[in-house]
Amino acid sequence: MFKKPRGTRDFSSEEMQKRRYVEDTIRKTFQNFGYQEIQTPTFENLELFTMKSGEEIIEEIYSFEDKGGRKLALRPELTAPVIRFYVEKLQMEAKPLKLFYIGNCYRYDRPQKGRYREFTQAGCELIGTKTPEALAELIAMAYFMLKKTGLKNINLYIGDLTLLSTIFQKFNLSKKQQEYVRPLIDKEKWGELKDALSDFELNDNEIDDFIEIIQTSDLEKIRKKIQEENSAKKQLEKLIKIKRILVENFQITNSEIKMSIVRGLDYYTGTVFEIEAPVLGAEKQLCGGGTYQLIELFGGKETPTSGFAVGFDRTIVALEEEEKDFPTSKLDFFVIPVNNQVLDEATEIAQKLRFNNYSVDIDLKRRNMGKALKYADSKNAKKTIIVGPEELEKQSVTIKDMETGEQKMVKISKIIDKLKK
Ligand code: HAM
Repeated sequence: MFKKPRGTRDFSSEEMQKRRYVEDTIRKTFQNFGYQEIQTPTFENLELFTMKSGEEIIEEIYSFEDKGGRKLALRPELTAPVIRFYVEKLQMEAKPLKLFYIGNCYRYDRPQKGRYREFTQAGCELIGTKTPEALAELIAMAYFMLKKTGLKNINLYIGDLTLLSTIFQKFNLSKKQQEYVRPLIDKEKWGELKDALSDFELNDNEIDDFIEIIQTSDLEKIRKKIQEENSAKKQLEKLIKIKRILVENFQITNSEIKMSIVRGLDYYTGTVFEIEAPVLGAEKQLCGGGTYQLIELFGGKETPTSGFAVGFDRTIVALEEEEKDFPTSKLDFFVIPVNNQVLDEATEIAQKLRFNNYSVDIDLKRRNMGKALKYADSKNAKKTIIVGPEELEKQSVTIKDMETGEQKMVKISKIIDKLKK
């Protein structure tokens, strides 16, 4: 017997209903905000991903050589592919360009709950603007999108990599030392961070000071720390504006400034943000994004870019943990021919209803009435249509409401009219 590959999943029809519900909600929210859907290939040239992140990333992705000796990779994310597409084809489009996508990604991660080797991202890229109102709208859209799926408890954190770099410089950390501490900050491994800082010869006061500023959400403390640094001052003002717009224009009052947002990918430059669902435990990050630079690296003309991706699978796990009552889709009708002589008429009735956009199934196993009704019930049919010779003589059928058990005779020519009322 075959088993599915490690880190992959099969989805039952019940699970697919949940997935489609979340997908529809997310797609509608993107469209609500003026974003347009695009699609890129599932595999790309490997270099697209190694160019920024270096060869180390090969350890974390699915890469292979095809029969023509080309080095390829299953996409671990969609930002690099979308920017490749933009540089190849879309540079002349009016700005800002608002693009969104929903697609599968592949990472050679160690599988656990909420972390898979094949998973889906719903994300977007905003190309051609970096105003505070653009960033605020982007962050608000991510927040609303997750709220609209029905999630009750999510936390929004906003950080800034320019500010973080300035803080690193204030403590005289070299580039190498910065690279070392970033993942520790990202994973909130405060003990290991302390040890590292002590190895870098910071004294106890400096270490406490460093940890305090990294953990603070107090903008005044950050302002004091960065003092006269110009680029950092500007970024801090931007962060303050973004937060104000989120509160005043979008009524999002529970966002928090978090300097420890580092983001795992190497292309981020300025404002960054993450949304978490605490109910998920270890893999609680539902969404991540921010301002980044890739266009010039890929040979395009410099223009600001930002975006985010929502982890679709984690969103569903979080909704399940919160015991969300997902809408279930029901079959509108199940048609039961009472004998083989009325099969043609029964098929025609089913087809007429399908043509009018009802979901309709018909007994294809020539079952007796009892068994057919049982099957209709198991398929969640709202109504059954019983087609029998006596009713047909009167150009009618019997419609049975599966919930109330109520039955009535309806003229075939009137079924559609009656249903529309
Ligand atoms: P990311 O943070 O690497 O960002 O991924 C975005 C989201 O994908 C995560 O927050 C998480 O929910 C989900 N995710 C990541 N890895 C897995 C996995 N192995 N299993 C299940 N879910 C996972 C990006 O990928 C950026 N491209 C986002 C972005 C778009 N930045 C700018 N534009």
